[in-house]
Amino acid sequence: MTQLQTQLADLRQQLNEHSYRYYVLDDPSLPDAEYDRLFRQLQELEAKHPELVTSDSPTQRVGSTPLSDFPSISHQVPMLSLGNVFDAEGLQAFVKRVERELADLGRAVIGEEGKEGEQLEFCCEPKLDGLAVSLLYQNGQLIQGVTRGDGQTGEGITENLKTLRSIPLSLRSADNQPLPELLEVRGEVYMPRSAFEAMNEQARLADEKTFANPRNAAAGSLRQLDSRITATRPLEFTAYQVAQISQDFAVKTHEKAMQALKNWGFKISPDLKVVKGYTGLQSFCDELAAKRDQLPYDIDGAVLKINDLRLQAELGFRAREPRWATSFKYPAQEEITRLLDVEFQVGRTGVVTPVARLAPVQVAGVTVANATLHNMDEIARLEVRFGDTVIIRRAGDVIPQIVRVVLEQRPTNTQSIIMPTSCPICDSHVERAEGEAAYRCTGGLYCPAQRKEAIKHFASRKAFDIEGLGVKLIDQLVDNELVKSPADLYKLKVEQLANLERMAEKSANNLLEALEVSKKTTLARFIYALGIREVGEATAANLARYFGQLETLKQASIEQLLEVDDVGPIVAQHIYAFFNEPHNLTTLDDLLAQGIHWPETQVRREDLPLTGQTWVLTGSMQSLTRDQAKEKLEALGAKVAGSVSKKTSQLVAGEAAGSKLTRAESLGVPVMDEQQLLELLASHTN
Ligand code: IVH
Repeated sequence: MTQLQTQLADLRQQLNEHSYRYYVLDDPSLPDAEYDRLFRQLQELEAKHPELVTSDSPTQRVGSTPLSDFPSISHQVPMLSLGNVFDAEGLQAFVKRVERELADLGRAVIGEEGKEGEQLEFCCEPKLDGLAVSLLYQNGQLIQGVTRGDGQTGEGITENLKTLRSIPLSLRSADNQPLPELLEVRGEVYMPRSAFEAMNEQARLADEKTFANPRNAAAGSLRQLDSRITATRPLEFTAYQVAQISQDFAVKTHEKAMQALKNWGFKISPDLKVVKGYTGLQSFCDELAAKRDQLPYDIDGAVLKINDLRLQAELGFRAREPRWATSFKYPAQEEITRLLDVEFQVGRTGVVTPVARLAPVQVAGVTVANATLHNMDEIARLEVRFGDTVIIRRAGDVIPQIVRVVLEQRPTNTQSIIMPTSCPICDSHVERAEGEAAYRCTGGLYCPAQRKEAIKHFASRKAFDIEGLGVKLIDQLVDNELVKSPADLYKLKVEQLANLERMAEKSANNLLEALEVSKKTTLARFIYALGIREVGEATAANLARYFGQLETLKQASIEQLLEVDDVGPIVAQHIYAFFNEPHNLTTLDDLLAQGIHWPETQVRREDLPLTGQTWVLTGSMQSLTRDQAKEKLEALGAKVAGSVSKKTSQLVAGEAAGSKLTRAESLGVPVMDEQQLLELLASHTN
């Protein structure tokens, strides 16, 4: 190999390794900026030497010139669908049926009731809600990717699938082990929920078409004739079946087949589990159902497969479904209901948000009676009117959404939904700022709704963390005009509190005590509690660290504010405006007059010992957690990053440090162990 070829191979190897760690193992090894730099370097070299471009180069993932059509490709092994069961009864019937069919085949794998070890083994996985695709590898190279289509014939979407970084372009081979001559892998392409939400949010802001759910978004993204569009979509692939493999690589069980796929660089389900008999299956389905809302992607059930591949082959198929597998379906995440009314809620910063009141309906195990409508643009986009029948979707922790209107069921003479011109709470004028989708109540803290939200925010866990001061109590305090601003909380008297609903002298005293305790706080919490627009917990902490004192922050110029991490022009403007509004300054003085205090830090960030340094922590430490170490280093002014690059100032390697250590060593980044870190931290205390 020439020096250039070695350099190209090295760049590709590094980029592939990073993609694999990032997209398959979920354990990034390079900062994005470093990846991009290496990528551009490879692109430039390849542009100069097109004859040296290989089909598995990461540059080949970015998409190429649009196709005019997808070729139609017939599956060598048909892509089947699965039977369904919906409850314990159905599941029991499935197990009984396979047991009987196996017995008919003379396979008495079933022992007497309850006798462990002789029960039939199943491999269970989540049923991912995306699109099935088939990938063909020849001598370890991806040569073709096809959609399921009608199960016999699908569409060739190789170019699109190549853009997914969780699909290996060439199989990984540990220790240069030989690779199968032929491998056909099947799996699901899907879009994680958070990526879907983010994509829709972007589309809403840009006034573009949104997708109803992650599955449609994945389908729409794969159906692009221009693979450069697919490349921009956050799609993932998880493998769930080996459809064909060269004879010498055959394994005995589905689980082993999945393990082999994992070793060749595929992502397989982290929830895959082998269980025995009906009880094992039922617990798997129950446990997965309980986890469903927390998973980062949509699932519509569990897939249950006989683990033994020989038994699978002997059982074969019936119609278009395998006899050896079924899916246990969970309740749907989309349901149909009626929009009864729209309520306009006023938030902390005055934004007026339309909220749909629905005829209550069960969605995936939870009763839903409200859904967000985001803003008036969303109402226009959905073309939703009072009384409409709507499809709603609830998935994970995301607030239920209206997906679309069922126009065929629209009653006659429906009324359209309009934004009120005055605030439904305080009657102040409602206006829409230029370039914003949101309408705002102009009442500020005169508006009881904004006042309530401001006080809820002030009392919340990450702000003043006032125990016992709940939402209902705040509503009462504001409604009874006992509290107009956060400072008023500290002026409350036992008698006033004890007279409120669901309060008595004891709870009143407890609350006063909690208020007293809350007076001792930190500057970061104090800044966060003020509820300045766009200033979340992290920004508040950055501001506190940078300015050290409230007085300096109050007097900061836009230019100074822009110096702070994570503060851009818009946030800087909000902060500047906040501290230049006389009203707010009075509120601040009033709060301080109540005795709110925090430990003064005299040192400014510029003077801290580790200012300007970027540290990385890896491996496990004995005497402190990673979070503790991070906090301590940050207190000394260091920035703590997640991955090693040339710019890393120092790596702290705990026990069992892995790739980050190797990378630091190869880049010449200084490395210290836990003991040295402790010594350094000790030398900076006092
Ligand atoms: S196995 C012959 N495993 O479910 C069995 N399918 O109705 C082939 N699916 O179109 C399927 N997750 O898209 C299998 N872990 C999983 C799956 C899964 C999702 C989908 C697949 C297929 C449909 C079958």
